[in-house]
Amino acid sequence: MSILIKNIKELLQVRNTNVTIVKGDDMKVLPTLKNAYVLIEHDTIVEYGSMDDYYNMNAEEVIDATGKIVLPTWCDSHTHIVYAGDRTQEFVDRINGLSYEDIANRGGGILNSAKTLQNTSEDELYEQASKRLIEVIKMGTGAIEIKSGYGLTVEAELKMLRVISRLKKDFPVKVKPTLLAAHAIPEAYKNNKEGFMDLVVNEMIPAVSKEKLAEYIDVFCEKGYFDLEDTERVLEAAIKHRLIPKLHVNQFNAFGGVDLGVKYKALSVDHLEELNPEDISALQNSNTMPVALPSCSYFLSIPYTPGRKLIDAGLPLALATDYNPGSTPSGNMNFVVSTACIKMKLTPEEAINAATINGAYAMGISNMYGSICRGKKANLIITKAIPSYHYLPYAFGENHIDTVIINGKRF
Ligand code: NIG
Ligand code: FE
Repeated sequence: MSILIKNIKELLQVRNTNVTIVKGDDMKVLPTLKNAYVLIEHDTIVEYGSMDDYYNMNAEEVIDATGKIVLPTWCDSHTHIVYAGDRTQEFVDRINGLSYEDIANRGGGILNSAKTLQNTSEDELYEQASKRLIEVIKMGTGAIEIKSGYGLTVEAELKMLRVISRLKKDFPVKVKPTLLAAHAIPEAYKNNKEGFMDLVVNEMIPAVSKEKLAEYIDVFCEKGYFDLEDTERVLEAAIKHRLIPKLHVNQFNAFGGVDLGVKYKALSVDHLEELNPEDISALQNSNTMPVALPSCSYFLSIPYTPGRKLIDAGLPLALATDYNPGSTPSGNMNFVVSTACIKMKLTPEEAINAATINGAYAMGISNMYGSICRGKKANLIITKAIPSYHYLPYAFGENHIDTVIINGKRF
């Protein structure tokens, strides 16, 4: 199968293969080619260039993209799309005055989702998650990280990870699985956190590793959940099983989670709504990607990650959705990009870099995804006819996508 996309108004994120991360001031630059073409063969971008240099190329399908923009699909490096049911009642409770913390303290929140998930069959869970995955692909996501963490027992965590593994097999998008081993202290261990830590370290991590169900390890490092000592214990155990850390840190409190992540060579540290100067210094001496989740801030009305500060300190930044039932029931990367511009004061160029190449870096796949490059996977968004790429974040809430191509095929 081959596809030729011709007369592209502007082709975004055209890079050399060796660019796998973009940092600091370089994030302000989005390399583009106006009046361009792209040639796809099988699942690969084999050629692109200016229409001025175009010569007659043979392809089974020719798409005329006059007036349209083409860009790499979004790389969503932080999601929890495998969950059961929803938490609409808690949403209403929050509108009526309860906080996210109040709800968690009365046994709702993550524990509520865990209870529902434990009572849901693997097949039913797969059905629910695959619907979400189809929706996010239609919205332009071509690579996605998916976490466990609503199981809270060995059996239920394995069930979640098996669902992720089935999604990975059945869908053309790139799926990267993460064991979110320590997400909340389950009801059964309410007064015995150490007992739960023993379960995670001695049973959960080895069982997941044995079935090769995860590549990454995550911990919700937060007051009232898991402290630095707990996080370190999980990381020590997981690293022995070759799981790479990607952590939830600094969502509500900053107390050294970033530094710990850097110490354990985390691929990414995510959330960072609360950030202090020490966190920035720690990141400056690392290969760890800071990840902001602006639709979580929007939904919970908590501060936005100071993305401007991070970029102005010379750091890279990635953007992801955090799609989950409690803090972000949305997997729309277009909204994330808009919100990063509107609320975090990222320029459209910075936001697009953060949602493509840097998102791919935060999943360890930026050698094959996240930019337009000969030899990279043919995962592309073709927009509707729009005035410019600035229009994407500007006209928020509108669907600008005409076609999504995944692995060289229309989705
Ligand atoms: O990333 N903060 C931890 N985990 C999720 C939310 C979990 C939930 O409320 O279900 C997050 O925001
Ligand atoms: Fe999350």
